[in-house]
Amino acid sequence: MILFHVFFNDHVGNDFNTLFKSFPVEKKYYAAGVPGSFHGRLFPKSSLHFIHSSYALQWLSRVPREILDKDSSAFNKGKIYITNAPKEVAQAYSAQFAQDLAWFLNFRALELVPGGLMALLIPCRPLNCKNKLAAALDMLEDILLGMACKFKGINLAKQILKKAILDHFDIGTLHLDSSHALNIADLGCSIGPNTFFVVENIIEFIYLKFQSSGYDFDKFEFNVFFNDHVSNDFNTLFKSFPVEKKYYAAGVPGSFHGRLFPKSSLHFVHSSYALQWLSRVPKEILDKDSRAFNKGKIYFTTAPKEVALAYSAQFAEDMACFLNSRAVELVPGGLVALLIPCMPLNSKNTTAASIDVLGDILMDLASKGKISDELVNSFNMPLYFPTTEEVKLLIETNGNFSIEIMEPIVWPQAVININANFLHMRAGWERLVRQHFGGDIVDEVFEQFQNKMEESSIWKDSSYDHLKELFVVVKMKFV
Ligand SMILES: C[S@@+](CC[C@H](N)C(=O)[O-])C[C@H]1O[C@@H](n2cnc3c(N)ncnc32)[C@H](O)[C@@H]1O
Repeated sequence: MILFHVFFNDHVGNDFNTLFKSFPVEKKYYAAGVPGSFHGRLFPKSSLHFIHSSYALQWLSRVPREILDKDSSAFNKGKIYITNAPKEVAQAYSAQFAQDLAWFLNFRALELVPGGLMALLIPCRPLNCKNKLAAALDMLEDILLGMACKFKGINLAKQILKKAILDHFDIGTLHLDSSHALNIADLGCSIGPNTFFVVENIIEFIYLKFQSSGYDFDKFEFNVFFNDHVSNDFNTLFKSFPVEKKYYAAGVPGSFHGRLFPKSSLHFVHSSYALQWLSRVPKEILDKDSRAFNKGKIYFTTAPKEVALAYSAQFAEDMACFLNSRAVELVPGGLVALLIPCMPLNSKNTTAASIDVLGDILMDLASKGKISDELVNSFNMPLYFPTTEEVKLLIETNGNFSIEIMEPIVWPQAVININANFLHMRAGWERLVRQHFGGDIVDEVFEQFQNKMEESSIWKDSSYDHLKELFVVVKMKFV
C-alpha cells in the first residue's frame, strides 16, 4: 500500500515537463510538482512531515536592493558579485541571505507538523575566503563587461457547478484533517486558462457554501492539484498561474485512468472535456483476425457494428478505472463534477463525420503511395463520445457514487464557424497524426482537411447533430 505523497518544488520557471517525464517507473509514492518560491508559502498549514532541500538555499530571492541603487554606498558599479567589491556590497548580500533564510524557516514552521523534520544541505564558504564559484563569477563579470552591452461550455456550466456545491457539498460530513485543507483536483487540465477559471469558481462557491452554513472560511486553506498526462506542458501551465491565487497549487502528471492521489485525500474533483479520450484504441480493431478489424477506417461511425461495440467497451473499461481510482482517493461525501461531450447513439453528427473525412484523406494518400496502407489500417482515433444513457449506466454499475446532478449544457443558438471548428479539431488531432505518420505529412493532411471541411455540406445539413455536453455531479457514497 502506498502511503507517501511527495511534492517536488522548484521555481515556476523550472522544467517540470522533464522532471515529470523522468519519474521512476516503479516509484512507491504519489507525486506532485509544486511551482513557486520556497521563500513563500507553498503548502497548507501543518500538512508536511519531512522537508528536504539541497544546494538550493544559496540562491537569494533577489539581488539586494542597495547594490542596484546608484546613491547607495553599496552600489555595485562594474561588478556582478561580492568579491573585489566594497564591503557594503558583502554586507548587503549577507543581510539578504539572513532575510531569505528567516522567510524560509518561518514558512516551513507553518507548513510542518509539530515534530516534523527538515534536512538542509547548504553550500557554505569561510567568510572572505576566495572560492571557485566566486572566481567563476568574476570571469562571467569580465565577459559581460567585455560584451558591454483554451471556455464557453465551462462558462455555461458555471451555474450548475454553483448549484452542485451549494446543494450537495456538505462540509460538516467531510473528513478534514487537522490542517483544515480542502483538496481539489482538476483532471485533464491541459495548460489553462480554462482550468484556472474553473478552480476559482469552485473556491468561490465553496466560500458561499461556508457563509450559508456558518463556517469560518479563514480557518480553511485550499490545495489545488492540476493533473494531465506526463507529456502535457506543465512549464506553460505553471507560468500561467494567476498572480493572486487563493490556493496552494501542484501539478500532478499521470493518467487519470489510474491512481494519482493518496487514499481519502481529495474533497472535490473536476474534469472537463477530457473523459472522451480513451486510454488506448480498442485492441480488437487492430487485430486482422478479429471481426472488429477496422480496415480502411479510422473511426467507427461508418464501420461494421463490431467496431462501435469495441469502442464502447473500451470507454466502459476506462470509466470503470476512472471511477474506481476516484472512489479510493475521495473522502466519503466528496464530489466529482464531470463535463463530458456526448452524442446520441447512431446519430449522424458533425464531429464523427469530420473524423471520417480525415480517414478518407489518409486512405487517399495511401492510394497515391504517400503513406502505407498498413499505417492507415493501424491508425484509429482514441476518442469516444458516449450517450447520456451510457454515462448514467456506467456510474450506476460502478456503485461507488450517487448521481446528484445530470444535465445537458444548453448552448444559445450559435452560427457555426467552420474555420473555428477546423482549428479546434486540428489542435486536438494533429499530435495523433504526427505521432503515427510522422511530421512530413501533417501539413498536407490538414490543408486537405481544411479544404474539405469548407466544401462539406454537413455544416448546413440539419440531419447532422453537433456534440452535446453533459454535466454530471456525483457524490462519493458513505459506506
Ligand atoms: C480538450 S483538453 C481539456 C482541457 C480542460 N479541461 C478544458 O476544459 O479546457 C483535454 C485534456 O485532457 C487530457 N487527458 C486526456 N486523457 C487523459 C488522461 N487519461 N489522464 C490525464 N489527462 C488526460 C489531455 O492531455 C488534454 O490536456
